[in-house]
Amino acid sequence: MNLVGRDFLTLKDYTAQEILYLLDLAAVLKDKKKKGELVDVYRGRNIALIFEKTSTRTRCAFEVAAHDLGMGTTYLDPSVSQIGTKESVADTAAILAGMFDGIEYRGYGQEIVEEFAKYSKVPVWNGLTNEYHPTQMLADMLTIREKLGRLKGVKLVYMGDARYNMGNSLMIACSKLGMHYVACTTKNYFPDADLVALCEEYAKESGATITLTEDVMQGTKDADVIYTDVWVSMGEPVEVWESRIKELYPYQVNAKVMENAGKDAIFMHCLPAYHDLKTKVGREIYEKFGLTELEVTDEVFSSAQSVVFDEGENRMHTIKAVMAATLGDCSQWV
Ligand code: CP
Ligand code: NVA
Repeated sequence: MNLVGRDFLTLKDYTAQEILYLLDLAAVLKDKKKKGELVDVYRGRNIALIFEKTSTRTRCAFEVAAHDLGMGTTYLDPSVSQIGTKESVADTAAILAGMFDGIEYRGYGQEIVEEFAKYSKVPVWNGLTNEYHPTQMLADMLTIREKLGRLKGVKLVYMGDARYNMGNSLMIACSKLGMHYVACTTKNYFPDADLVALCEEYAKESGATITLTEDVMQGTKDADVIYTDVWVSMGEPVEVWESRIKELYPYQVNAKVMENAGKDAIFMHCLPAYHDLKTKVGREIYEKFGLTELEVTDEVFSSAQSVVFDEGENRMHTIKAVMAATLGDCSQWV
């Protein structure tokens, strides 16, 4: 397996075999980290981290993973970079590629990270766009494999806004890896028909299935994984909260959903999550709409079935694998 020099922009660009290779590599690197074995083979290299939207996990995962691999990091946030305002995406990419060995980019439209990659001679890693969140997928798939012991045949139900980055990416990952993907939401939030058609093609090859349903009880029946995400994503106007709450509240992940899914089902969320009143936004929503929990109840979030913090940790191990594999030869590890 040779992924050296490749960008990591969406899982559409990766075969099932390549995705599984990255998971295997992540598992090896995770094991080494736990044992305290150093993997700082990229000493002397540097990466840039561009964040046009905020982040806790992705930024920290890239920084820690890069440092573990021996690399230096430079963080650029929208308030200090000139990207798109005083300098084009193309010129910025060309400049940074001359200084760095790899570049992470979190931003708005997928076309921007694609443009960035086109003008960068070093690998570009998508740290989230409106359309896709591919590094999150590797963490999620590694977590599912660790918890359930398999990926093929797993029924994963995504509840909420299934047209955005998380829903899209999960549908792609599941259809490539032979899993049963269910988007369980109101039909206004079903994924784009062209993307569904593309994933149906992947599914034919892998044995996956794709189901879109508005029926909560039918959709979540016997699920292995119940997955949700915030109802309003970064960059969306605050005004949409009202309609989102109205339309997506029936698709909240609560005890009834988890019971219907089955006793061995796990709960996943990319995080951050609104499950209590310990956030500023959570309290504002409570004052306006009277709800104390949104996409997931605190009961489910805090339950033994919830694997969200292991999932979060796996962001670091999997991002390390992506960087390691696209920057050099990893045959010493897998
Ligand atoms: N899941 C995720 O991408 O989290 P951050 O926004 O904190 O990076
Ligand atoms: N859909 C969310 C995912 C956050 C990791 C957002 O884009 O804000």
